[in-house]
Amino acid sequence: MYYVEIMGLKIIVVDFGGQYAHLIARRIRELGVYSEIIEPENLSEVLIEGGVGGVILSGGPRSVLEDDAPTIDSDYLRSYDIPVLGICYGHHLLAKEFGGELVRGHIREYGRTRIKIINEDDIYHGLPREFHVWMSHWDTVVKPPKGWIVTSISETGIITSMTDNKRFYSTQFHPEVYHTEHGSKILENFLRRICRISPWWNPGDQVSRIIEEIRNIIGEEEKVICAVSGGVDSVTTAVLVSKAIGERLHCIFIDTGLLRKNEKENVENTLKNLGIKNLAIVDASERFLKRLRGVGDPEEKRKIIGEEFIKVFEEVSSRIENARWLAQGTIYPDRVESGRTGRHSALIKSHHNVGGLPDKISLNILEPLKDFYKDEVRMIARKLGIPKEIWGRHPFPGPGIAVRIIGEVNEEKLNICREASAIVEEELSRSGIYDYVWQAFAVVGDDKWVGVMGDERLEGYIVTIRIVESMDGMTADWHRIDYDIMDRISRRITNEIPKVTMVTYAVSSKPPSTIEPC
Ligand code: XMP
Repeated sequence: MYYVEIMGLKIIVVDFGGQYAHLIARRIRELGVYSEIIEPENLSEVLIEGGVGGVILSGGPRSVLEDDAPTIDSDYLRSYDIPVLGICYGHHLLAKEFGGELVRGHIREYGRTRIKIINEDDIYHGLPREFHVWMSHWDTVVKPPKGWIVTSISETGIITSMTDNKRFYSTQFHPEVYHTEHGSKILENFLRRICRISPWWNPGDQVSRIIEEIRNIIGEEEKVICAVSGGVDSVTTAVLVSKAIGERLHCIFIDTGLLRKNEKENVENTLKNLGIKNLAIVDASERFLKRLRGVGDPEEKRKIIGEEFIKVFEEVSSRIENARWLAQGTIYPDRVESGRTGRHSALIKSHHNVGGLPDKISLNILEPLKDFYKDEVRMIARKLGIPKEIWGRHPFPGPGIAVRIIGEVNEEKLNICREASAIVEEELSRSGIYDYVWQAFAVVGDDKWVGVMGDERLEGYIVTIRIVESMDGMTADWHRIDYDIMDRISRRITNEIPKVTMVTYAVSSKPPSTIEPC
């Protein structure tokens, strides 16, 4: 099952672990060339398959000097006339495989370094002679392989890039990271000047292909079930399936009682407007709240929500005759968790469906978005006419606002969390900040603050606002909010929500803190 139509040469990113491979693949796709991530041992197989215009060897957390460090079949790579770019670990690997010299680092060096280009080469075409880059490494190359030249050095004298001047290039620093100045231009130079690939990839162009593919896969009498959450991935999945098989799609929306303000109504209206006919809205909020009563432990809460979700889903889905498929909004980065990034793998978005749904039910899995990044799913959603309230909305965790309530989840805290979050979202939208931040919400726990309401002293809740900026949710920084906006949010929360006497702002980045508090 392959939903993506390859209409030009693609770039293969060899994954040596960590988060680097996805960042590289995303950048390449943003530059208009489709790229796929593969495991090192699959390199020869993928090259034989064909259609590859260039190979990028990613960074990774290991040292190439360790005995069992991941490697590649470099003879194979040598025998193909395809350009190769090694980044960090990939740079070390090329040095090792081609006979250069490396020294082992004992501490990991992170951060910004200034580099100087000492030999012109195509990846630096059009760039200034000196600029800042982002490094993260243990080892360093001290002598390039025979016949290769050093193209740049750092201010501390480290070799920061080299080339064989034919088709192998490598950098010690990370061009895919935003902190590297001209990083995108370096990757673009690799694509255009070295691999000679013009931009051709546009996710929006894939819509008719995806729909056709779904139509081919699903048998004529078969029905598909889709659990929609209101998030962009599941709604886009549902709309694609509905366009392919019409009324044989059955959507299930479970109201866990842990949703955002007006979420149920919004999702219902949106799906109806998008032509989805069979939508079962299940109000299971009492069941969830009953089971969550008295439970304060974060992991226990997630487990309960996951279990209850499966139970409700099974009850509802078992009533749908001839259901053979479960459509899921799995996207490309979700598949990295179990290291199965090859195009033939079909993985389950375990954290999304909060409990491993498909293990328990005997439905085939349909994942039409499994090869796309979030931004690409948004483009597909726009092409399908899905409104901005869905594709532009911040990510929302599977277990809902339960992970924003510290301690026991009860009606009172749920109500405070829901209303306060709605105020945060409203004020950010009004001031034009909403679209620029990754997530913005309110958190409530059990600590109290004495307040003065009229003549009365009242012990009320503390609401903490969390607004973070992030590219992918893996790392995040707190948003430096304007004081006047913060003031408006704070006043509205204490004025409009009973029993709240204090508003605080969370100012820790991730790491060390997570985005959601529990
Ligand atoms: P943390 O809190 O781990 O969150 O820094 C990173 C991103 O993941 C989201 N998140 C979840 N999403 N199910 C989900 O579907 C979950 O259980 C879950 N927990 C966290 C979180 O909102 C943030 O965007």
